[in-house]
Amino acid sequence: MIKIAPSMLSADFSILRDELKSIEQAGADYLHIDIMDGHFVPNLTFGAPIVKAIRPHTTLPFDVHLMVTNPADYVEEYAKIGVEYFTFHQETVPHIHRLIQQIKANGMKAGVALNPGTPVATLEDVAADLDMILIMSVNPGFGGQTFIPRAVEKVKQAKILLETMGNHDAVIEVDGGINDITCIPIKDAGATLLVAGSAVFCAQDRANMIESIRNN
Ligand code: DX5
Ligand code: ZN
Repeated sequence: MIKIAPSMLSADFSILRDELKSIEQAGADYLHIDIMDGHFVPNLTFGAPIVKAIRPHTTLPFDVHLMVTNPADYVEEYAKIGVEYFTFHQETVPHIHRLIQQIKANGMKAGVALNPGTPVATLEDVAADLDMILIMSVNPGFGGQTFIPRAVEKVKQAKILLETMGNHDAVIEVDGGINDITCIPIKDAGATLLVAGSAVFCAQDRANMIESIRNN
């Protein structure tokens, strides 16, 4: 079963509580939360205080995607708020293995994200420990960008890597440019959790769009 995580980045922030209710009712499985620091990526979004403030206002589990240069500094803070997936970028951390252990020790699931230019093979030595591999299908920083087709091949590689390492539980998430058309090859390749920001939030009928991404 494919799961869908609408990205809050494309929500109307002035009515955030209503936006969360709307996607919850439209059938979302997770809320994807993009934390950007203006250093690792050329954009600044929001941080833990906002995530904490919205936690009581939705039943959706939180899928937090940290696009920051120092993700280790935030592990405890997000664990206390109550997030399910804590995902950091491979490109930001010299001690990936240590950070994965730290995330799990704090009771969260550990995800590692890969930029379009970062090979899947860089995760070979931690693949057995991961709860999620996040394949970026755009360069991180903004919503509404065009899907990079090479991501399809990387999803296949991630699937093979996880199987080879005996990890049958980890999720393969894809993030960037996902809509009711680009979702098709990505699902065929083995992705199990799809992020969709602009496609869901800008849709006339959000429930219909989530349904189409899930079932197309
Ligand atoms: C990009 C973010 C994405 C973004 C996706 O840096 O990580 O989660 O919000 O937005 P769409 O689906 O519009 O590409
Ligand atoms: Zn994201």
